[in-house]
Amino acid sequence: MTKPVLWITRKLSDATEMRAARDYDVIHNPEDRVYSGDEIVAMSGNVDAIMACHSENFSDEVAQRLSNRVKIIANHSVGVDHCNLPALKARGIAVTNTPDVLSDATAEIALLLMLAAARRASEGERLVRNGQWTSWSPSFMVGVQSTGKKLGIIGMGRVGRAVRKIVEGLGMEVHYSNRHRLPPETEQGAIFHDSVDDLLGAVDIVSLNCPSTPETLNLIDARRLALMKKGAILVNTARGNLIDEAALIEALKSGHLSAAGLDVFKNEPGGNPELAALDNVFLLPHIGSATRETRDAMGWRALDNLDAFFAGKEPRDRVA
Ligand code: DGY
Repeated sequence: MTKPVLWITRKLSDATEMRAARDYDVIHNPEDRVYSGDEIVAMSGNVDAIMACHSENFSDEVAQRLSNRVKIIANHSVGVDHCNLPALKARGIAVTNTPDVLSDATAEIALLLMLAAARRASEGERLVRNGQWTSWSPSFMVGVQSTGKKLGIIGMGRVGRAVRKIVEGLGMEVHYSNRHRLPPETEQGAIFHDSVDDLLGAVDIVSLNCPSTPETLNLIDARRLALMKKGAILVNTARGNLIDEAALIEALKSGHLSAAGLDVFKNEPGGNPELAALDNVFLLPHIGSATRETRDAMGWRALDNLDAFFAGKEPRDRVA
């Protein structure tokens, strides 16, 4: 029996690529380069399925031009903001993602960003690395303690809940806002706010864990930053589009926010040089899910979705 032709758009974990090669006729991308919209369209005529990452943009325009041959885009990501879902659905192309398996890895990075921002890790690391650490005193590099503080999680889905769990040892009072209030057994004592505005003024640290959608574009803008407590900290492991970066830069420069920890940016790859110029920001290059364990699990989950689809079953993580 001929195997479906699967295009794996980026270099994935060895385990993922080996399993894929066992079950599919795979087109790999050993140079790991990013394909443009036109190139995606051109490639689509040769393949039955695409295993894509958030680096491939399936815009409305690309979706319209994809070959009829493509039956499924099995994303190797939980986020699907790079896919125009209505347009792909209208083309009859199934779309899946990889929820659950990256929640803990992303929560680790949220914790890292939170502590690094609060304890001035960028500044301190740079001093030591550059040989500029020339003195010490009790008033040197004093930061903010996270233990016992109030943490506000915006988006209490799988990742938000993993963040709540990972901060347990810090004795934080956890608040959250979410489209729906969670049942008590899932909420586990976290305090619900029915609006983002209400949550922002109640907490010391804010963690963004909601998806990027047209509704959440610039969710944290100048008005909402002003609602945050003076000296508060903002952490983003979700998507850069959630923050108006110009407004955040103002809030960080004025000292209204004491610090921010960011793993995601409006412009990726690359980030924002104006943010990078600030000492009170800790920056990472979109590595929330970048652990060996999680990359394998994401690959497995995407392949499970493909296997189900080609077996004529409903893929577990179908989003369109
Ligand atoms: C995701 O899965 O959405 C991560 O951001 C990596 O793409």
